[in-house]
Amino acid sequence: MQDTTQQDNWKQLAGEAAARLIEDGMVLGLGSGSTASYVVRYLGLRIQEGLQIVGAVPTSNATEQLARELNIPLTTLDAHPELDLAVDGADEIDPRLCLIKGGGGALLREKIVASAARRFVVVGDVTKQVLLLGVHFPLPVEIVPFALPLVRRRLEALEAIVQLRYKEDQVFVTDNGNMILDCSFPGGIREPEELQTQLKSIAGVVETGLFLNMTERAIIGGPEGVKVVMGEEL
Ligand code: A5P
Repeated sequence: MQDTTQQDNWKQLAGEAAARLIEDGMVLGLGSGSTASYVVRYLGLRIQEGLQIVGAVPTSNATEQLARELNIPLTTLDAHPELDLAVDGADEIDPRLCLIKGGGGALLREKIVASAARRFVVVGDVTKQVLLLGVHFPLPVEIVPFALPLVRRRLEALEAIVQLRYKEDQVFVTDNGNMILDCSFPGGIREPEELQTQLKSIAGVVETGLFLNMTERAIIGGPEGVKVVMGEEL
């Protein structure tokens, strides 16, 4: 098992490298989770030192709170429907830079923000790189609570092993008032595009944690420092 302090250092390296991509005058999307929080912290530092962004759209209540504490100017998609750059973490990153996200439960806003961005950059540490998505990490699927019994049956028909997400003995509720079903696909997800289409066609599924063909580059921290992996032509 990975030493968490070491892994944290790698996350920090990646987060800070990504925050260096931010320039004066940008409108940003700010991701959620521990790696994205390093981006937010370093951005806060750069703003203290004089960087002037137009504003940032946070992808979760937790990121919004952190950004406020760091005096990062916030904005909304109403005011800025197009973002210059969004940076976020991931649970798994495959060689095509397709991702599984949503381990922290913020996948819906994360996907909306990533879709609104002209450039989407993922940050992670080497432990997030996988050859095939879904072998180790279950795919989070955000659903409307009313639809739970139906969606569960439909997912099981797709051969998913489905777990309703709990947090501290309570059913986990997303920032949008929805539930998350964590779906394991034995053997991994070989056809992510096809799976995404199948999942999105189930009534009651709001969004999935599959982020496909959106990532411009991955910034990965590891024992050798930071490496940048470019996505295929988007
Ligand atoms: C939050 O919903 C997720 O998509 C995170 O981006 C993902 O879980 C990665 O989190 P860490 O950076 O904390 O590993």
